[in-house]
Amino acid sequence: MIELIDVTKTYTTRLGVVTQALDSINLTLPEVGMIFVLGKSGSGKSTLLNLLGGLDRADSGQILINGDDLGTRSGEDLDAYRCHDIGFVFQDFNIIDHYSVRENVGIAMELQGKAINHDHLEKTLATVGLSDFEQRKGNEVSGGQKQRIAIARALIKQPHLILADEPTGNLDSETSNQIMELLKEVSKDTLVVIVSHDSEEAKQFGDRILYIKDGRIAKDEHIQTSVHKTSQINEHKGFLKLSSSFKYGMHALRPKRLQLGMTSLLLTFSLMISSLLGAYLHFLDNPDTVLGNTLKSADIQAIVEDLRGYLTQANAEGLMIGTYILLLGIFYVFLSISVEQRIKQMGIFKAIGARHHDVLKIFVWEALLLGMSSFVLSSLMAYIYLLDINKKFYDGLQVLVLYQAQIVFHGILSLILPSLFIVGLTLNTLRKNSVISILKDS
Ligand SMILES: Nc1ncnc2c1ncn2[C@@H]1O[C@H](COP(=O)(O)OP(=O)(O)O)[C@@H](O)[C@H]1O
Ligand SMILES: [Mg+2]
Repeated sequence: MIELIDVTKTYTTRLGVVTQALDSINLTLPEVGMIFVLGKSGSGKSTLLNLLGGLDRADSGQILINGDDLGTRSGEDLDAYRCHDIGFVFQDFNIIDHYSVRENVGIAMELQGKAINHDHLEKTLATVGLSDFEQRKGNEVSGGQKQRIAIARALIKQPHLILADEPTGNLDSETSNQIMELLKEVSKDTLVVIVSHDSEEAKQFGDRILYIKDGRIAKDEHIQTSVHKTSQINEHKGFLKLSSSFKYGMHALRPKRLQLGMTSLLLTFSLMISSLLGAYLHFLDNPDTVLGNTLKSADIQAIVEDLRGYLTQANAEGLMIGTYILLLGIFYVFLSISVEQRIKQMGIFKAIGARHHDVLKIFVWEALLLGMSSFVLSSLMAYIYLLDINKKFYDGLQVLVLYQAQIVFHGILSLILPSLFIVGLTLNTLRKNSVISILKDS
């Protein structure tokens, strides 16, 4: 059972304008049924829904879920509450365009730490009429189908509460009706709260209608008394598995293969230059250890002098520092753009119950892929290039060889640097923006 006691919420805009979005709401919601929240734009409907779903916090008052106050829960506990107990359905769907229908729905289950249960997934897709569209991409289906995906994504969690914010606001009337009928069916076993401004729709489908005006409940109309059903609390255990995060992390890269390829090329280039300079400097520093047994010391000295004529040690060192700065810059620029492009995804993941570390787990693969591919490629290319130089100029004598310590350093750098960047940039974005503001803005 859900109880709201004196729940108040005010918003202050950046310019200091204060809006009372909810004003002392007292409400008890049953276990099952279809409840409509009606009211004019700006009356506080979405705020009420967001508070119920743990997407935002009340200023004062209590929201009790089976006696347990949402306000006392940590951010991570609220994520878990959304992950296991809540299904959100939004007006603008908030599905991930380049994920397949199957992935868009399956991710809700995997965020709960479960493996995909194919029977359950297929049944859920059948319930919403999407059986034939499993492999379609999110951006290859109609608006009505997008909303069915969102409903399936909510249903697959077997949540206690489905919250729908104007779910038919972007749909034509026939599709709206179908979506409402679907939600009505769901509401036999689950509580469904729907925000709407269509009173006809509310009267046709609602078991109860809450009229909201200026953040207060103006009228509470019971059309049909709901059947009582006791619900047990879902267990809040389990996190996204590493293998699942890999799958979703890699799939997220599909639409930007070119961007990724170009960046990897730039990184490979700067790492390779740095490896070549490293081999060069290593030889200048220790010519005797590199060539000790094979040549006389006078010959070695001649090679050293000859090489210095091409590029002085100081210049080589300067260049090497330059390539590292370049490397840092490329990683930073690419990954900030990448995080910027994925803000919307972040909002969607969070809304369906991902914890911060789930988001990081999905995003970090991109950094690792970029770092590792550039590292391997650059080392290979530098190796081949040096072989070639040695063959051409020194009859195959191993004068310039990869400096192993530097290659190890490159390996570690290519793993750690991009991972740190992506973790930092993602956390910074998540902390600076609330989930609601991310979803609203993008
Ligand atoms: N993040 C926000 N910052 C400032 N004001 C907000 C914010 N969210 C909502 N409001 C204000 O709170 C009031 C209620 O908003 P909302 O719950 O979205 O209304 P509804 O969904 O009924 O249209 C409105 O006046 C709105 O402008
Ligand atoms: Mg609204």
